[in-house]
Amino acid sequence: MQTAPIKPLKPWFQTITDVGDSLNWSSFFGNDRPVQLDIGCGRGLFTVNASERHPEKNFLGIEIDYREGRRGAMRLFKREQPNARIIGGDCKIVLAKLIQPGSVAAAHVYFPDPWWKKRHHKRRLFTAGFVDLLAMVLEDGGCVHSWSDVAEYFEIIRQLMNEHPQFDTLSPPAEREAEHDMDYQTSFERKKRQLGLPIYRGLWQRITR
Ligand SMILES: C[S@@+](CC[C@H](N)C(=O)[O-])C[C@H]1O[C@@H](n2cnc3c(N)ncnc32)[C@H](O)[C@@H]1O
Repeated sequence: MQTAPIKPLKPWFQTITDVGDSLNWSSFFGNDRPVQLDIGCGRGLFTVNASERHPEKNFLGIEIDYREGRRGAMRLFKREQPNARIIGGDCKIVLAKLIQPGSVAAAHVYFPDPWWKKRHHKRRLFTAGFVDLLAMVLEDGGCVHSWSDVAEYFEIIRQLMNEHPQFDTLSPPAEREAEHDMDYQTSFERKKRQLGLPIYRGLWQRITR
């Protein structure tokens, strides 16, 4: 069977290897505007919508599943979106090794995989180490936004974040009526809300160093 050739989506989609040893935001985005991360961005609805709404900011989606990441990058490519990119790879590597400490204005982590089975819980993204990485890359006053439809996992996220000494807990945003099918925070939010499931939302702020 013949497979379609993979479209060159650079610079909208790049792998960790393409990026090199470190991410210098000025050269990566070509300007010094504040950078927001969409961690586990899936097919990128948040990155696409937020970058269109906020040309004064830069957005970087990070997605371990290249197929999903490339779908998001295709949307950016079609719009020639100047202020958004997607990196294919493990966000923990990107956070720990490529991003300069204190250089990120906000991190969005929407609907992280719940890994339902108990023996798989260790694969969950939110651990004490992951929260430490968020605290490291965020600038003072930078925010973490995380939403989930899984009450039990959200409770773990809430505890890790609320109890972390480098974060203050803020009031999360209220639910907003979507005006159309693309007017959701992410694809997963759309899916879960259309199923009538409750969404748990959290917002935390990096304290001053
Ligand atoms: C349930 S989906 C949610 C996608 C999107 N945030 C949304 O709300 O529609 C979770 C996503 O996180 C990605 N993911 C899981 N672990 C990751 C990691 N270590 N680094 C980057 N992405 C990861 C998965 O591949 C998946 O696309």
